[in-house]
Amino acid sequence: MFGRILRRQKLFRSHFRNASLFGKEYKEDHMTNLTPRIINNLGNHKHRIPNHPIEIIKNEIYKYFDQSSTSFAKFEELSPIVTVEQNFDSVLIPKEHVSRDKKDNYYINEELLLRAHTSAHQVELLRKGESSFLCCGDVYRRDTMDRSHYPIFHQMEGPRKLFIRGSEKVENDLKRTLEGLVKHLFGENVEYRWMDEYFPFTHPSFEIEVFYEGDWLEILGCGIMEHRVLVNGKAEDKIGWAFGLGLERLAMRLFDIKDIRLFWKSEVVQEQFQNFTGDFRQFKFVLPERKIEPAKFDLAFWVPEGFHEHDFYDIARNIDVEDAIENVELIDVFTHPKTGKTSHCYRTFYRGALKGLQFKDVEHIDSAIRAALQEQGAGLR
Ligand code: DAH
Repeated sequence: MFGRILRRQKLFRSHFRNASLFGKEYKEDHMTNLTPRIINNLGNHKHRIPNHPIEIIKNEIYKYFDQSSTSFAKFEELSPIVTVEQNFDSVLIPKEHVSRDKKDNYYINEELLLRAHTSAHQVELLRKGESSFLCCGDVYRRDTMDRSHYPIFHQMEGPRKLFIRGSEKVENDLKRTLEGLVKHLFGENVEYRWMDEYFPFTHPSFEIEVFYEGDWLEILGCGIMEHRVLVNGKAEDKIGWAFGLGLERLAMRLFDIKDIRLFWKSEVVQEQFQNFTGDFRQFKFVLPERKIEPAKFDLAFWVPEGFHEHDFYDIARNIDVEDAIENVELIDVFTHPKTGKTSHCYRTFYRGALKGLQFKDVEHIDSAIRAALQEQGAGLR
């Protein structure tokens, strides 16, 4: 079983197989970097589980938009398997843009990937003739390992209210609507601010930040839709706006959930949210106290060619199926002056989201990570 996981995880494959996703076979190629962990969790999304915090926030956003005079169609069952065209080209992400990188995305093959944002569906829905809609779904990104990053999370996209071209009302409408949403979620007295941003698919683009625990936290991106996006969506005679937001971000801030792994602990979610009624703004999540400090392991190795930090996190996540790792820090990068070889040193902190873990509880995970790295051609130091 482990052997299979390690082999499938190999970075440099000499031959490719087929990946089976939702019962369908997909051909693998040089771009494939799905891990068994991700494949096993494909479709294990949270936005449709009753009283899951992600579902609660989703419903609150729906509720807000349901009160408006425009009606918004809702889409939340679109497949997370999308084309490169949908995820990037359709929303004008340049061919060489860093966001297309293999290090940040889960590619099925060179044509398909697991959507990295729900914006992947904008054009497809516009083409179907939708004009104002909310699109919610699970999204997948390769990233760091800490208490606020998980390779699968949830986004909400939309709506785009389409006006006749030339209308000046559109920016006011965007600001008024999204300020209303922020107040609906965080209360009338929320401290928030507008920031200028850049997205390839909107111009101008903005972000809203809310003040949280002494700091400004970005919670939503938005802007006036680029004309080319509307052209791609066969709505070239219109102008409109769009927004996108991460539901975990909102839920963490609103319910005081300090560790993103908790969204995946169904027993806790059940226990704390099951009988959830009343004002969601009054509700606070209670994180059990974990008395034990995290167990720490350092691991240094010579990296194989083309190796990226995110490859280490994927190897670790693939083995750590119970989410015992709280965070990982890359503490040292060093290139040998003579051999030119580069070494990375990672410090892994083990502590469950619900309970402390001791050295003996996690030693086997650390050994398995070492073995997997060796399989990849990494020379342990
Ligand atoms: N897709 C963006 C992201 O994942 C969020 C976003 C920003 C969506 C602006 C939008 C938008 O529709 O207009 O970061």
